[in-house]
Amino acid sequence: MTSEVGILGMLMKKLQQEIAVVVKEHWQLDTREVDVSCPRELGHGDFTTNIALKVAARWGIPTSQVTGILVGELAQRPFIRKNFTNVIIAEPGFVNFFLSPQSIWRELSRGKYNPYRGRKVIVEYSAPNIAKPMHVGHLRSTIIGQALVNIYRALGARVVALNYLGDWGTQFGKLLVAYQKWGSKVQLKHTPIDEMLRIYVKFHKEAKIHPELEDEAKAAFKNLEQGNKKLLQTWKLFREYSLREFNDLYKRLGVKFDYYEGESQYQKSLRKVLNELVAKKIITINEDGSQVVIFDDEKITPMLVQKSDGASLYATRDLAALKARLKKYHPTEMLYVVANQQALYFDQLFTCVKLAGFSNPKVKLTHVKFGLVLGEEGKKMSTREGEIIKLEELLNKAVDLAWRTVEKKNPELGRREKAKVAEAVGVGAVKYNDLSQNRLTDITFNWRRMMSFEGNSGPYLQYTYVRLKSILRKAGKLKSLRFNADILIELDVNLLHKLIQYQDSLLRAAKENSPHLVANYLYELANLVNSYYHEAPVLKAVEPLRSLRLLLVQRTALVLKSGLEVLGIKVVERM
Ligand code: ARG
Repeated sequence: MTSEVGILGMLMKKLQQEIAVVVKEHWQLDTREVDVSCPRELGHGDFTTNIALKVAARWGIPTSQVTGILVGELAQRPFIRKNFTNVIIAEPGFVNFFLSPQSIWRELSRGKYNPYRGRKVIVEYSAPNIAKPMHVGHLRSTIIGQALVNIYRALGARVVALNYLGDWGTQFGKLLVAYQKWGSKVQLKHTPIDEMLRIYVKFHKEAKIHPELEDEAKAAFKNLEQGNKKLLQTWKLFREYSLREFNDLYKRLGVKFDYYEGESQYQKSLRKVLNELVAKKIITINEDGSQVVIFDDEKITPMLVQKSDGASLYATRDLAALKARLKKYHPTEMLYVVANQQALYFDQLFTCVKLAGFSNPKVKLTHVKFGLVLGEEGKKMSTREGEIIKLEELLNKAVDLAWRTVEKKNPELGRREKAKVAEAVGVGAVKYNDLSQNRLTDITFNWRRMMSFEGNSGPYLQYTYVRLKSILRKAGKLKSLRFNADILIELDVNLLHKLIQYQDSLLRAAKENSPHLVANYLYELANLVNSYYHEAPVLKAVEPLRSLRLLLVQRTALVLKSGLEVLGIKVVERM
């Protein structure tokens, strides 16, 4: 494995080693006992250690004596801030360190770090079912998945962005029967998903009165699985047309896949997978001929891998897909961005993979799960048949609301420009709403909060960026000058300390597969820079302070832009 630390991590390690030397020399404590971490609050420095408590406990000496010696020794180091009276604060037992502004600036200017170089990550996300409208669950998977793809890439990993279409299964038997009976070729061409939904809903209604339809559907799926040409042709249309509609949405959301897979493509390898499970003796055949994998852990219920009528199953296709991906991409890890509801299923799947020895145990498999989307009153935004929230309409509404604000705020912009800004703000608001909330919990969908230009929202962050750009435009060409930390005041330095945390937020987000850690960081940065330029004059400061502050503003704008782009949110130059 590569060293998976960013800028802060590297400096932290350096500090940890320096502390260890002092501690060993004075108190004979082992290197490994020295813990260094990052304090939560900006005013508490970049790093903190509790080693003084350990030393004091071990030797029965006052902590103040230990911290005194540590402070005295470490203030000599160039990357620690010099005037340490208010710099290295000893809280009860803790010693907090501030990096020197000079060294922060040097690190910030150093360019790209690639702490994830050497890793290859497959991110499977979106995975909608063809012939059906995508629902909010798929939208979440799409947005979170793309953010993870971007985050891992920003850290230097190689990423395979993968869509896995639900394009196979018994429901296609139903759809084929319904299409034969009630389908319209013209409608299918014009509004494919609406038409497929219409006949699918009709099938269910009719099947209540004519249960024999279900048998027809089963037979049709069986024929499809056996390669019936005519059925395959119609199925291909379903797939192609659905994909066309999905792609419109992806384009609008700035979502891009490297590969599209479908459940259908593993038909041929299912037999082999089943045979391997049999050979490993982990399959049980039921009396009706169906086959299941049973697990030792009772919490994991048996997984059905073959139906009694011989039809293939979701789980078996997933096993085959997983094997194929390992072989094709040689990943170091695989993420499946799929809703909470499938948590048990992924437990089954991954346990089965382990039992069957399909995967090298070093390849990490993760179900990146997420909660529901709750509507305004905490009600589930569901997709019961007939009551579907169209994602396109949802985005349109957001863009509409954004348009109204833009009209008010920027009457001077041309129509085209306004439309561009409204699209970026509206779509950005929907995405940010999702990405700023912890994925593990159910999230709320509140139009007012989401579209607001204040508070933790997409528009607020985009607007902050615009304000910074406006300052920079007014300033004209920036002078290149030597970074001189001595003229900076506390406000400037606080901003510097915040800026250096950006990469760390990416790393933490990747470790937990939680994009909201990046969103939260950006929100904190935006708050800080907003109060910064209110309290510290930038354009009106005297040189060389003016130029230095402009550099800080420029750097902050850059971080905001990169961060938003990592979340898949566009910035605009004016709004
Ligand atoms: N198409 C499935 C659904 O909509 C999700 C697929 C998730 N991925 C997987 N490898 N099973 O429920």
